[in-house]
Amino acid sequence: MEQEQIWELLKRNREHAVAEDRYKKGMRYRRAGKSGLVLSELSFGLWHNFGSTDMYENMRDMVFTAFDGGITVFDIANNYGPAAGAAELNFGRILKNDLGGYRDEMVITTKAGFGAWKGPYGDGGGKKYLIASLDRSLKNLGVEYVDIYYHHRPDPDTPLEETCGAFRRIIDSGKALYIGISNYSGARMREMLSMLREMKVPVVLNQVQYSIFERGAEEDVFGDCKKNGVGVTVYSPLAQGLLTDKYLKGIPEDSRMHKNAFLKESALTQEKLSAIRALNEIAQKRGQSLAQMALSWVLRREEVSSVIIGASKREQIIDNLTLNCEFTAEELAEIDRVSKIQ
Ligand SMILES: NC(=O)c1ccc[n+]([C@@H]2O[C@H](COP(=O)([O-])OP(=O)(O)OC[C@H]3O[C@@H](n4cnc5c(N)ncnc54)[C@H](OP(=O)(O)O)[C@@H]3O)[C@@H](O)[C@H]2O)c1
Repeated sequence: MEQEQIWELLKRNREHAVAEDRYKKGMRYRRAGKSGLVLSELSFGLWHNFGSTDMYENMRDMVFTAFDGGITVFDIANNYGPAAGAAELNFGRILKNDLGGYRDEMVITTKAGFGAWKGPYGDGGGKKYLIASLDRSLKNLGVEYVDIYYHHRPDPDTPLEETCGAFRRIIDSGKALYIGISNYSGARMREMLSMLREMKVPVVLNQVQYSIFERGAEEDVFGDCKKNGVGVTVYSPLAQGLLTDKYLKGIPEDSRMHKNAFLKESALTQEKLSAIRALNEIAQKRGQSLAQMALSWVLRREEVSSVIIGASKREQIIDNLTLNCEFTAEELAEIDRVSKIQ
């Protein structure tokens, strides 16, 4: 056999056979605000478990499981790793080796705003950083454009005009199709949205934290996003795993809390544990896992365009794919009653 044929054969063996019925498995799709961009109700986020020391086979398995389940949105950022950039590189590798033919069925997002490289030009909201970072991201991902480029956080030290101007230039360059903002709320968000509109920058989403335990976005974000025709995409809908049944019997060794970094052990107070137990009982009565109920609860809001889940193994993604967003008034009241804690 010729060397080239052997290589082709090896490549084909490695390639993942994508599920033909991926759009018939019950995933629903919503619009990003009033835009023409359609998103799967669940997005898959690569913040954790896609770093340079994590297992590549596990990453592959999770990306395949998500895509095969009808998830089309893959949420990444320039600083996801560790090291910063590793999640983009790993996703780019999966795309190249296994899913390259499916680029047009995916919404790939990245972000810049938090510290990504050393020195004064790897952080914030300035033009130099935002433009250089996107170039790095495209290289890491091995794609010509991203679907959504987010400003990851408000930067009080850079004039909004400059950040918006950088996005205008990026859209003109064709390196991003749409713009998103993240962690913006209240007056700063309103100012940013109105300036982006004035400059005719296609801003479609605000990415914010929202869950049964973190409800600030209901007041500070939802109403103004709706008024502006901008969708909300939600991160940490499971409060990083607290809103699942995994901590009911202690702290498992393979959990995020066990690492005690982004999710601290101190977050699991007795009060919180009682709330989780009570929520778990409500979920069981609804015939759902607690994770499924927590995701359904976020998606009950029409302002939400998509909810971004994280995972450490494929089984979690499979669990999260089955949702029922219908709640009775009694169920919602009971969820409110048991979860109102500090
Ligand atoms: N814009 C921003 O500033 C920002 C900030 C944070 C996140 N994000 C984005 O949002 C994404 C999601 O954030 P997140 O990871 O905090 O979301 P999350 O969905 O609240 O938490 C994910 C974690 O919950 C656990 N989990 C998930 N499904 C489970 C299930 N069915 N049963 C039991 N445990 C389950 C896993 O924890 P274990 O690892 O313990 O197994 C998983 O790593 C990120 O990847 C990122 O893309 C954006």
